[in-house]
Amino acid sequence: MLNFEEDITAGSPALQQMRGPGMGAAPAQPAPADIPAAAANLMRAQEADAEKYRRVKVEDKRIINAKADVNQLVPFKYKWAWEKYIAACANHWMPQEINMNRDIATWKSPNGLTEDERRIVKRNLGFFVTADSLAANNIVLGTYRQITAPECRQYLLRQAFEEAIHTHAYQYIVESLGLDEGEIFNAYHEVPSIRAKDEFLLPFIDVLSDPNFKTGTPETDQTFLKSLIAFACIMEGLFFYVGFVQILAMGRQNKMTGAAEQYQYILRDESMHCNFGIDMINQIKMENPHLWTPQFREELKGMFHKAVELEYAYAEDTMPRGVLGLNAPMFKEYLRFIANRRASQIGLDELFPGATNPFPWMAEMIDLKKEKNFFETRVIEYQTGGALSWD
Ligand SMILES: [Fe+2]
Ligand SMILES: [Fe+2]
Repeated sequence: MLNFEEDITAGSPALQQMRGPGMGAAPAQPAPADIPAAAANLMRAQEADAEKYRRVKVEDKRIINAKADVNQLVPFKYKWAWEKYIAACANHWMPQEINMNRDIATWKSPNGLTEDERRIVKRNLGFFVTADSLAANNIVLGTYRQITAPECRQYLLRQAFEEAIHTHAYQYIVESLGLDEGEIFNAYHEVPSIRAKDEFLLPFIDVLSDPNFKTGTPETDQTFLKSLIAFACIMEGLFFYVGFVQILAMGRQNKMTGAAEQYQYILRDESMHCNFGIDMINQIKMENPHLWTPQFREELKGMFHKAVELEYAYAEDTMPRGVLGLNAPMFKEYLRFIANRRASQIGLDELFPGATNPFPWMAEMIDLKKEKNFFETRVIEYQTGGALSWD
């Protein structure tokens, strides 16, 4: 018969190792003088455990550098993030649902579009077809692991999927129109106005995707915040807008309505990404006011000015002449107007005083109601958790 007592106390060498020193076959009895020390150690270990496994309290949650367990979604603290997650899921769409037949016929017809209009379509896809991959990489390889609010992580997971849908949509347009894939997918290397925008963004991705990067000091927290601003306010909030206006203007003239429909749904998603990013930025500012120094604000202003310059160069490159009732100088005003708006949304002073919006119709596009299908090429909305309804 096995003697369990003997087994346990003797143990295998491996078990002895797991038990640690002094817990082998002949456990040493603490000398009487050691007893208070041992008890104190045990108490400290129990306290450390209690702290480590203590139930999450709302006040422990923070957007960055929280100690609270990131695996527990509730109790909610950042309801705005959870609500955006719900709204984003309710806006679900897929590129293949949009009928591209008219676009294909227009593209193939020699008189379907002018050369300038074709240039716009190709340049546009050339930028976007890789831009959303950059956006997705930035979320999953960089931003996500620094965010310690599970409600925000939940939205970021949805956002990352939406970026995949956007890349899918651009690829789907390229494929539908039978464009040269090599030309379009390499535009971010080969077209200088596109490359310049991506080169502006890359350092912000690189710093976050470095596996050694970690928030937790004022310097790294500022680096992280700057990267969030570069993505939410500049990439999603500014660099997308010349392209969006151009393709949506085309749709308004009843040309390339399938592509325009895709862009309209993308615009709706992107404006939510931008607003979510801005909410996170403002919350981080509130929780860490020491980061928002005058010097930091000056740096951000410089970033915005550079971004407006780059996006304007892109507008000029895509529209060497007036087209679709648009021309490059109109975009100078528009980009200044948008830059002002983004700056004010994160609490910076107006960058270009008095700039006005030459495209008021864009507001209508952004505020797309789910039940309204502007270009009417697509079956209507998803209903979350229920059946699809079709019109
Ligand atoms: Fe996107
Ligand atoms: Fe986005």
